[in-house]
Amino acid sequence: MKTSNSRLITTYIIAVVLVLSGIGAVVMPFTSPVGKIVVVLSLLSALIVFLILIFNFFNTYIKPVRSAIRAAGDMAKGNYRTRTYTSLYGEASVLAESVNELARNLQAMATQEKIRGDQLKTVVDNMESGLMLIDEHGYVQLVNRKFLDMFDMTQADATDRLYYDTVDEEGIHNVVQKVFLYETKIKDSFMVTMEQDNYYIETVGAPIYNESGQLTGAVLVYHDITELKQLEQMRNDFVANVSHELKTPITSIRGFSETLLEDTMDDPGLQEQFLTIILKESKRIQALVEDLLELSKLENDERDLQMEEVDLGALFKEIEPIVRQQATDKEIDLQISIPNEPFIMFGDVDGLKQAFLNLIDNAINYTPSHGKVQFSIDGKPKTLEVRVADTGIGIPREAVSRVFERFFRVDRARNRHTGGTGLGLAIVKHIVEVHDGQIELDSKTDRGTTFILTFPRMG
Ligand SMILES: Nc1ncnc2c1ncn2[C@@H]1O[C@H](COP(=O)(O)OP(=O)(O)OP(=O)(O)O)[C@@H](O)[C@H]1O
Ligand SMILES: [Mg+2]
Repeated sequence: MKTSNSRLITTYIIAVVLVLSGIGAVVMPFTSPVGKIVVVLSLLSALIVFLILIFNFFNTYIKPVRSAIRAAGDMAKGNYRTRTYTSLYGEASVLAESVNELARNLQAMATQEKIRGDQLKTVVDNMESGLMLIDEHGYVQLVNRKFLDMFDMTQADATDRLYYDTVDEEGIHNVVQKVFLYETKIKDSFMVTMEQDNYYIETVGAPIYNESGQLTGAVLVYHDITELKQLEQMRNDFVANVSHELKTPITSIRGFSETLLEDTMDDPGLQEQFLTIILKESKRIQALVEDLLELSKLENDERDLQMEEVDLGALFKEIEPIVRQQATDKEIDLQISIPNEPFIMFGDVDGLKQAFLNLIDNAINYTPSHGKVQFSIDGKPKTLEVRVADTGIGIPREAVSRVFERFFRVDRARNRHTGGTGLGLAIVKHIVEVHDGQIELDSKTDRGTTFILTFPRMG
């Protein structure tokens, strides 16, 4: 810009010099020697006046206008930080001021726009749902971070491509097509398999219109509903399990009572046998219903917990006769190891008793006769550790993580025989959790199982 400015000034000066020299050349031959001096001096003065005028004109008009043109060009290219040269006076100074004002406003607007854009991007990227924006030609214009996570993609894989090249998922293609076809909100859910895991995704697609009401694209929101589906599945499994558990004893009660009613049975021994079965099966139903109620109360925090200072040693003394009897009946060696000192924690006496009873009951049930069951309490500085160990059949490795599930049994056929409902450990786990405790287990098939309960110690 500077060189072109000086080139322009030089051109003006040369033009003036040429014009003045021309005048001199024409006038000189007709003047006297004194007159010549006057002409030269006049021409020199005229040159000086012209030079001053040129500089003045240049500074007041040409330079500011040219600078304003440059600034306008910069702004057109998006550089709002540009400013123009301002002269102190003249019309051009008003122009320069206005251009600078315009640049300042545009810069402020661009900054605002950037802040708003950043805010929007932050919101879109931190949404808990995946988001995809498609233009009217079916090209993906925008996806958020959650979308990329959901479908394990990078930004480059996803944007500026046709939607069906972006995600190879027919469910999504259908939603997009229906949104464009019916121009209305469409909702659908489908299963996606990624790295052998199944996810359930719900998609809601909605059309986007411009101000004149023309369809300009579609926005799709994806929710991961896997957890919801799992909960639904668990609920269905639960109902199926309960029905299944009830079916056997009910069928048997019905069968035996029908036989008793129909046959005029003379054999009192057989009659008693049937009635005993009916009693046993009804007790089983009762146990199942009681366990279910217990579990449901625990899960819904409805169980009235009487939290108080409890000495675990003294608490065990109260259940010892029951478990001793059970062990003796099955010829199992029950060993108790509770040091003679207080083991105080904050807890519900009935709940804790039930948890210990369930664990010892299991230990005795799943240990063959002449085996060993050990109950011990160990005091750590901040915690109390209760162990129930047996030398029984153990739990296979693949079942260890599932034994706390409701109705889970390692061997269904065998358990039916022991009369278990498969709810005992689920109840124990809940009781431990309401006491802010932890339960772990260590087991080896045919060698035995140890359950370790840890509770916060008081005092
Ligand atoms: N000490 C143990 N040794 C071996 N297997 C065990 C032991 N404790 C639990 N299990 C396994 O875990 C399953 C779940 O135990 P849980 O106590 O919940 O149910 P259950 O004993 O079958 O019935 P119940 O509800 O009457 O206690 C059992 O069926 C059994 O297969
Ligand atoms: Mg049990």
